[in-house]
Amino acid sequence: MVQPDGQQPVAPSALKGEGAQCFVEFEDGTAGQHPTSTPRALETDEIPGIVEDYRQAAERAKRAGFDMVEVHAANAYLLNQFLATGTNKRTDQYGGSLENRARFPLEVVDAVIDVYGADRVGIRMTPFIELFGLTDDEPEAMAFYMAEQLSKRGLAYLHLNEPNWAGGDITFPDGFREQMRERFSGSLIYCGNYDAERAEARIGENTTDAVAFGRPYIANPDLPERFRVNAPLTEPNHETFYGGDEKGYTDYPFMDNGYDRIQ
Ligand SMILES: Cc1cc2nc3c(=O)[nH]c(=O)nc-3n(C[C@H](O)[C@H](O)[C@H](O)COP(=O)(O)O)c2cc1C
Repeated sequence: MVQPDGQQPVAPSALKGEGAQCFVEFEDGTAGQHPTSTPRALETDEIPGIVEDYRQAAERAKRAGFDMVEVHAANAYLLNQFLATGTNKRTDQYGGSLENRARFPLEVVDAVIDVYGADRVGIRMTPFIELFGLTDDEPEAMAFYMAEQLSKRGLAYLHLNEPNWAGGDITFPDGFREQMRERFSGSLIYCGNYDAERAEARIGENTTDAVAFGRPYIANPDLPERFRVNAPLTEPNHETFYGGDEKGYTDYPFMDNGYDRIQ
């Protein structure tokens, strides 16, 4: 059971995520992936309460000492579901037009900015990523609209995950990164399937300020140091990616002092 009292999860519209799996603990104490259930659509008057949840989360993050926070509007999570045409079939002010679909994510951003200040807030978005049944007819238009709106607010950074990070051959359209650069005045971060060399090349373009790493970091707790000295990387074990104990979580080795360096 994931939700309190076995309630349905919430979404912009009551559409089941095809092929979507959630990592859960089963009643017999074992854990594993389980197909997600059909969500219920949020009522319009519930949305301010969810925005408030994000504000509370930001306040807690601040109390816990985090320097910055990143609003997660990516990878078919709740805010991404509002942005995308395939998952948002609402007929109220939170659905339909581009502006309406962006309304809730932007209300969340504003709430988090109230807590941290815009220069300490970033956002993660994944235009063009079709995961867990999420589809979108207007990914580019929405990315551009969000970039402009977030730029007006002075957001610190916009973090985009490459569409093909989990496989497939969809990539950003030609000129997309350049256009994002024109529309957004903060830092632009890209992520997905990079190694040190490709990351350097990307940063060398005028489109990208930084590159983020996911899987290499899981398996290499000292990843920046390994990049710096050009040391080989430990390959991550996919079997231990989700859930479980310290195995595959905190037990990947650091480089030894006597580690053979390539150069
Ligand atoms: C085990 C695992 C869990 C992840 N969980 C999330 C997540 O909750 N939200 C998200 O936006 N991305 C998530 N990602 C995607 C990563 O943040 C990253 O974008 C992706 O792995 C691509 O970068 P990489 O090629 O450097 O790994 C996850 C990736 C892995 C491997």
